[in-house]
Amino acid sequence: MVSERTQPVEDRHRVAGWVRGTIDEADELRLRSADRQTGDDVEYPGISEMLRDFRDPSLLHEYSHPTCRKIERVESSMWTERPWLHELLVCPNHERGLTADNDVLQCDLGDSFPIVGGIPRFTPASSYADNFGFEWTRFPRLQLDDETSTESSDSFRRRTGFAPEDLQGKRILDGGCGMGRFADIAARWGGHVVGVDISAAVDAAAGNLEGFANAALVQADLRRLPFAHGTFDIVFSLGVLHHTPNTFQSMSRLAALVKPGGMLAVWVYSSRLRWTLAGGELLRQLTRRMEPETLLRTVNAVAPRAHALKQRAPRFARYVDLVVPTSNHPNPDWRVLDTFDWYSPRYQWKHTYAEVEGWFHRLGFEEVDRQDFPVSVRGRRPLGPSRQDAAGSA
Ligand SMILES: C[S@@+](CC[C@H](N)C(=O)[O-])C[C@H]1O[C@@H](n2cnc3c(N)ncnc32)[C@H](O)[C@@H]1O
Ligand SMILES: [Zn+2]
Repeated sequence: MVSERTQPVEDRHRVAGWVRGTIDEADELRLRSADRQTGDDVEYPGISEMLRDFRDPSLLHEYSHPTCRKIERVESSMWTERPWLHELLVCPNHERGLTADNDVLQCDLGDSFPIVGGIPRFTPASSYADNFGFEWTRFPRLQLDDETSTESSDSFRRRTGFAPEDLQGKRILDGGCGMGRFADIAARWGGHVVGVDISAAVDAAAGNLEGFANAALVQADLRRLPFAHGTFDIVFSLGVLHHTPNTFQSMSRLAALVKPGGMLAVWVYSSRLRWTLAGGELLRQLTRRMEPETLLRTVNAVAPRAHALKQRAPRFARYVDLVVPTSNHPNPDWRVLDTFDWYSPRYQWKHTYAEVEGWFHRLGFEEVDRQDFPVSVRGRRPLGPSRQDAAGSA
């Protein structure tokens, strides 16, 4: 049933949760949303006008409008062509299997979770990580490897120590996948990889991973994931855990998903950053409270000027970076993305090798190894029951 409603999308959205976009035959952008409370389809007159710049269907999944949290292509193979994912999912509240019924996953104890744009969704529409949803839907492909760049795969090797043969045929979890650049590598190296992210970043990742039937996505909080303990051969989480409220607690949730004999690899920010970026930490108290749009405009204005200044006066570059640190990446767009990424997150903790290695030991992991890039550590879950499980059952 289609009902006429005139409320602004913004207001409706709080009830509806998700907004979907399609291009109809008349090249009109139509947005629909199933109202979660009434089950009605709701249409938004006038929305096509607002989105007239985004008529290209291939752009839809990469776009997020300030008044709409999500805009999805309705048809997507992300769910239908990944039957292996269906078997892995469990209800995060009861650890029971889920049955799919018309784009809804149901647990027999009454929970239900929507599948939108081919992605099962286990999070509320908004979280502390909305800045990342904004970031990755704005820069959906910049850091993806292609014929001209292997920067992400180089970075993956340095942070995890994994080579293609380590991932081949393995069941892998990418905890906090962002737009999917590392899940993309795991998929290319022959793993069956599930990328999870709490934010709308999964929509950007879907655009990047749609071509890999061995890569799937789930929108979920890594502290409460819809997978049974011991599901994955390899779990990695790069650049994520320090952005959660408690790095160790989040890591321990991921650790529980590793199979006995499997590996966990994490990269978190290094404490050494604290001194070089002293000015940035102060500024962050302001910038992390800014609307993402405003912050991005500011970064777009400041980053190129700061870069030019550092180029002109290399002897003072250090001092500029001390007061207003900005990225020094050779690519100007990466500089803007990295700088936005630094100033926007709500949480941003820093850690030492000793601390992270200590966490691995505390969780009962063995073969705990430092990787090259600070602070990257990986470890193996022993074949017997881990201390974490023993503690859980005590
Ligand atoms: C800096 S980005 C890194 C993304 C990706 N790993 C990469 O390196 O390109 C951090 C990501 O962690 C996600 N994130 C933060 N807290 C999370 C949580 N509790 N559960 C799942 N994802 C989370 C954010 O949404 C964001 O996409
Ligand atoms: Zn349930």
